[in-house]
Amino acid sequence: MNNCLGREYHESTKHSWLSVRQHPNRLDWENRPSPMKSYPRRYPRIRLEKECPAHIFIYHIGGITAKKSYPGVEYYLRTVPSAGALYPNELYFQARGVEGFKDGIYHFEVGSSSAVLLRSIGKDEGLEPFLRLRHPMRGLLFFISSPWYRSAWKYKDRAFRYTLLDAGHLLGAIEAGSYLYKHAYRITYAADLEGLNRFFGFREREFFLSSAIAAVPDTQGEAVVPDSGIEQVDPVGAFEASPLIERAYRETMTLHGCRKEPGFPRFAFHKEAWREVIVKRRSARAFSAGKGVTRAQFQMLAEILEQPIPSDCDEPVEIYAVLNRSTDMPIGIYSGKKLIREGDFAKKAAYLCLEQSFVADSAITFFLLSGGCNYRALCQKAGLLGHRVYLASGYLGLGCSGIGAYYDDEVADWLGRKDAMVLYALAVGPEER
Ligand SMILES: Cc1cc2nc3c(=O)[nH]c(=O)nc-3n(C[C@H](O)[C@H](O)[C@H](O)COP(=O)(O)O)c2cc1C
Repeated sequence: MNNCLGREYHESTKHSWLSVRQHPNRLDWENRPSPMKSYPRRYPRIRLEKECPAHIFIYHIGGITAKKSYPGVEYYLRTVPSAGALYPNELYFQARGVEGFKDGIYHFEVGSSSAVLLRSIGKDEGLEPFLRLRHPMRGLLFFISSPWYRSAWKYKDRAFRYTLLDAGHLLGAIEAGSYLYKHAYRITYAADLEGLNRFFGFREREFFLSSAIAAVPDTQGEAVVPDSGIEQVDPVGAFEASPLIERAYRETMTLHGCRKEPGFPRFAFHKEAWREVIVKRRSARAFSAGKGVTRAQFQMLAEILEQPIPSDCDEPVEIYAVLNRSTDMPIGIYSGKKLIREGDFAKKAAYLCLEQSFVADSAITFFLLSGGCNYRALCQKAGLLGHRVYLASGYLGLGCSGIGAYYDDEVADWLGRKDAMVLYALAVGPEER
């Protein structure tokens, strides 16, 4: 287990009661990285329009849905949550035979809600070979990259975890949108990341994390990568190297012993209500103390989390639910739907999440753990599951917040899983408004 690549990174970025007191986060506002990437104005832009289904599909994957202003700083909040609202990821896509887009390679410019055409593609040209696909594909191919310093600026070396969880949320947004767009999707972690990074001119400031396919073979021709790549553009402005993050990325680029998941999730959401949940999603900031969830709500969340995630590298993620308050169920720790320890652990769960007091008022605190080996894939899977929890909670009229800060070893010990990595936590419950 300890030979697993990525494990060493995870071990060295654990929080403990002592570490958060010895190394508090300090922000250097003078050297704040740019929160959004933009290519030069000379590239053609397509404004995403409400009337076009493919445009809406793209917009739902991280488009801006709200703005929050504080003295000296504005945050543009998106369909996806992000640790510290720092949004350390970018979305690129290839469109072929898709209404609303010329065939080409695009960057989603979040700030202007536009798709920037970086390069047109010919009939057999495209990024398919980087995804180990032989034939040109009709539809959308998605590529998620990370200008990771946006997050490392605040969270230092622990930021690689957040870039992966945030990327998982973007994959979750692709899943949620594909349900509306009526197109199957599957995730590719085993893409040729090295080749993609080179093609897009990325240096140490940005790297690809994953990709997803919402497309079908178009012709029987052989797809070929275009002979000239994409111009390099600095995504962050300010930058500081992190040898630990750069090594963790290099070590986790290649995958080992992957199990493919061919299954596809079956959801039965009312489409219009689902669309509203996607665009209205926010993180809960306070829960209504004393109000619990019903058995039906708890079971629906558990069932949604059990649904398969189609990918080429499915890693095991164990889900523990600390049920703090319920109208009609015994409270305690559940593994899936099974009660494994009865009792009121609300205060304990909040303590474990770095004493974030609002967690004690939540009805459920989820902890996601893994003993798997493909770190890049398993963290993104945890983020995707987190996105399902957010959206399904919204659908059930409950609030949700991701929790990336917890005392790693104490959580694992408490759950009796000393050897497992704690990847993510989420608090869910009726919101205090
Ligand atoms: C990976 C991740 C970790 C997060 N960790 C915390 C946390 O520890 N505490 C918290 O209050 N919110 C946390 N959040 C929620 C973010 O603060 C929130 O998503 C961000 O401020 C944007 O707001 P929005 O989700 O309402 O759009 C986390 C979100 C993500 C995706």
